[in-house]
Amino acid sequence: MANQSPVILITGGAQGIGKGMASYFLNRGWRVVVLDLDAEAIRSCKEDFGNPENLHLIKTDVSGEPEVVSALAEAVKWGGRLDAMVSNAGIADPDTGPIETLELAQWQRRIDTNLTGAFLMAKHSVPHLRESQGSIVNIASTRALQSEPHSEAYAASKGGLIALTHALAISLGPEVRANSISPGWIDVRGWQANAPAKPTPLSASDHEQHPSGRVGEPADVAAMVAYLVSPEARFVTGQNFVVDGGMTRKMIYTD
Ligand code: NAI
Repeated sequence: MANQSPVILITGGAQGIGKGMASYFLNRGWRVVVLDLDAEAIRSCKEDFGNPENLHLIKTDVSGEPEVVSALAEAVKWGGRLDAMVSNAGIADPDTGPIETLELAQWQRRIDTNLTGAFLMAKHSVPHLRESQGSIVNIASTRALQSEPHSEAYAASKGGLIALTHALAISLGPEVRANSISPGWIDVRGWQANAPAKPTPLSASDHEQHPSGRVGEPADVAAMVAYLVSPEARFVTGQNFVVDGGMTRKMIYTD
């Protein structure tokens, strides 16, 4: 009999938060499809997980429609179903320098990957998610809500992602739910393709400035994804969930 375990697809899942999510779901009996642009990260991800039969990796650029169409066809052929789709792929570096020198191409690259990629993934996942009554989770950022200087393209792409998410929720309900997560600082150094065996420890002040007492880990985001794609969250759609150790609730004035 075909394997009936639920299938989750995670974009940008070969390293960083997405790889942490892949690990989290594999450990809980899900079958996991990872789409990623980076061939080296895909290779090292397979190696790190021991290439289990419950994991399928596909090299894809989520900002290109033909690639997305063919990756989804491959994913569904492999899994036989699709229960959850997480748009996590992104250019995670927010700093594009002063607006006066921000090239249109740099702006466009972030919008294409972080926002258009999520649109394309949603568009082509929906027929499969309708069948499974599944759900979409988009990984936005607290930078959709607040900013440091010189992050216009990144902030706009993530703000757009939150808006895309509530629009999807209204269009796709009740069959398909859509939510977003806005992580704060998540330490991904141990989850990169070229990760040092032991990354330099973060400082005490890195941790202590968080009301939660520590910087985030990929599992903190994965746990929220797990809730949102579960039947327990069937009354939850169109929302954005901040997972940031409390940082966006903290007032910061210098003396
Ligand atoms: P990362 O750089 O470690 O991982 C991102 C992954 O996405 C990489 O494997 C990369 O190859 C892949 N990717 C990039 N462009 C792609 C494309 N066009 N098609 C397919 N795959 C592509 O970054 P990290 O930190 O794990 O971030 C993951 C997501 O979480 C991003 O959307 C980022 O904006 C968001 N985020 C991260 C935070 C953090 O503190 N690490 C905080 C808030 C949001």
